[in-house]
Amino acid sequence: MEKMWAGRFSKELNKEADDFNSSLRFDCRMYKQDITGSLSHAAMLAKQGIISAADCEKISDGLCSILEDIEAGRLSFDADAEDIHMFIESELTKRIGDVGKRLHTARSRNDQVAVDIRLYLRDETEEIITLIKSLLEAILEQAQAHKTDIMPGYTHLQRAQPITFAHHLLAYAMMFIRDIGRLKDAVGRMNYSPLGSCALSGTTYDTDRYYTAEKLGFDGITLNSIDGVSDRDFCVELMSAFALIMTHLSRFSEEIILWSSWEFKFIELDDSFTTGSSIMPQKKNPDMAELVRGKTGRVYGDLFTMLTVLKGTPLAYNKDMQEDKECIFDSIDTLKQCLKVFAPMISTMRVLTNNMHTAAQKGFINATDLADYLTKKGMPFRTAYKTVGQIVAFCIENNLVLETMPIKDYNKYSELFQEDLYDEISLETCVAKRISAGSTGIESVEKQIAYVGTFIQKL
Ligand code: ARG
Repeated sequence: MEKMWAGRFSKELNKEADDFNSSLRFDCRMYKQDITGSLSHAAMLAKQGIISAADCEKISDGLCSILEDIEAGRLSFDADAEDIHMFIESELTKRIGDVGKRLHTARSRNDQVAVDIRLYLRDETEEIITLIKSLLEAILEQAQAHKTDIMPGYTHLQRAQPITFAHHLLAYAMMFIRDIGRLKDAVGRMNYSPLGSCALSGTTYDTDRYYTAEKLGFDGITLNSIDGVSDRDFCVELMSAFALIMTHLSRFSEEIILWSSWEFKFIELDDSFTTGSSIMPQKKNPDMAELVRGKTGRVYGDLFTMLTVLKGTPLAYNKDMQEDKECIFDSIDTLKQCLKVFAPMISTMRVLTNNMHTAAQKGFINATDLADYLTKKGMPFRTAYKTVGQIVAFCIENNLVLETMPIKDYNKYSELFQEDLYDEISLETCVAKRISAGSTGIESVEKQIAYVGTFIQKL
C-alpha cells in the first residue's frame, strides 16, 4: 500500500522496517478518540472558512460511518496502515474520495496523537476512579460491620497495641481517597488541548483552537505549540499515581495473604476468590492477592519505561514517543484488572473476629496502657515505661499475662497499682479510651466512616 507520505520517496519501505515502525496493533484502541478529535477539527475548519460546509458534512458523515463500522465489527484494522491516524484518514478517503484529503489541513499527526492520548487517558482515569469507588464501598461495608471488633495492631509485624478491624481497614480507605485526589489533579493539569499545535510551530491558517478545545471538553489550550506536541509529563504523572495505587493494593494484598494463613487466621477469603493446589488437597491459596502484589512490579516497570523514553529526546516530536503507548496501556489494563478482583474479594471475605481477639490477648499489647495508668497516677512516663518493661519481663519468665498477674506482684514494682488497673488494661477499655482525634476509639472510627461515606457519595 502506498504511504501517505510517499511523495518524496523513490523506494518502498523495507518490510521489517515497516512492521517495526507501525503502531496500529496497539494504538488502534484509540480509534474513538481519533475520530472524535477529527470531527471537531473538521467542524473548526468549516467554521473558519478553511473548508466548505458541504465538505465538512461529507467528512463528518464519513468519520461517523467509520466509527459505526468499527464498533459493529464490520471494519477491521488494516495491518498495512502505519498507525490509527493514517488508517482512519485513508479509510475516509476510500469512502468519500478526495474530500477526505482535506481533513489534514492545519493539523499534523503530532498534535493529533497528543490529543488522542489525552482524551483516552481522561476516559480511562474516570473508569479507574469508579473502580476505586467500588473498592471504597467494599472497605466501608466491612468497616461498618466490624466497628468494635478488636485485633492486634502491629509495628515491625510485632503485636503492638489493640485496635479495631474497622480502624485498620479505614487506613486503606484514606490512602485510596488520596489516590483519587492524585488522579483528579493529574487530569486537571492534563486537560488542555494541544490540537492546532500542528507539527511543532503552529500554522499559517486562521484556526480557532479554543473552539476545538471546548468541543472536546478541554479546559483550555496548551499555550506553546512545541510543548503541546512534545511533552508526555501527564502520562508520567498518571502512571506514578497508578503505581502508587498498586503500592497500596500490594500492601493490602500482603496483609490479606498473611491474615489468610493458619498462623493468623484472621480472615477467610471466599472460595470464589481463591484457588486449590494441584497436589495438596488441603490448600486454599490467596492467588488473587498474590497476583496483585506481583503485578505491582509490572506497573512500576511501565512507569520507568515512560520516564526513560522521554529522557534525552530533543524537542519537539520524536518517534521515541510512540513508545509511550504500550506501557501506559499496560499499566491501565493491569490496574483495572486488579481493582476489578480486589473489591469483591474484600466484600466477600469472612472476618474471623474471635481469632483476632484471641491474638490480641497475647503479646502484651496493653503494656502502653499500663504505663499510661501509672503516668496518670503521677509517675513520669519514662519511669512508668521502664517499670512496665520490667513487669513484662517478669510475666514472660513466669508465664503470666498482664491481665492475670496478681496485685501483690504488681505492688512489688509500684505502690501506685490498685485493683482498678485490671479494668484499665482490658482490651475493650484500651480501645474505648483512645479518645484522640484519628485514633482507634469508636468516636474517631465513626467519624472516619462518615467521612468515607460522604466522599463516596460526592464522587
Ligand atoms: N504513531 C505515532 C505516535 O504514536 C503518531 C505520530 C507520528 N508522527 C510522526 N511525525 N511520525 O507517536
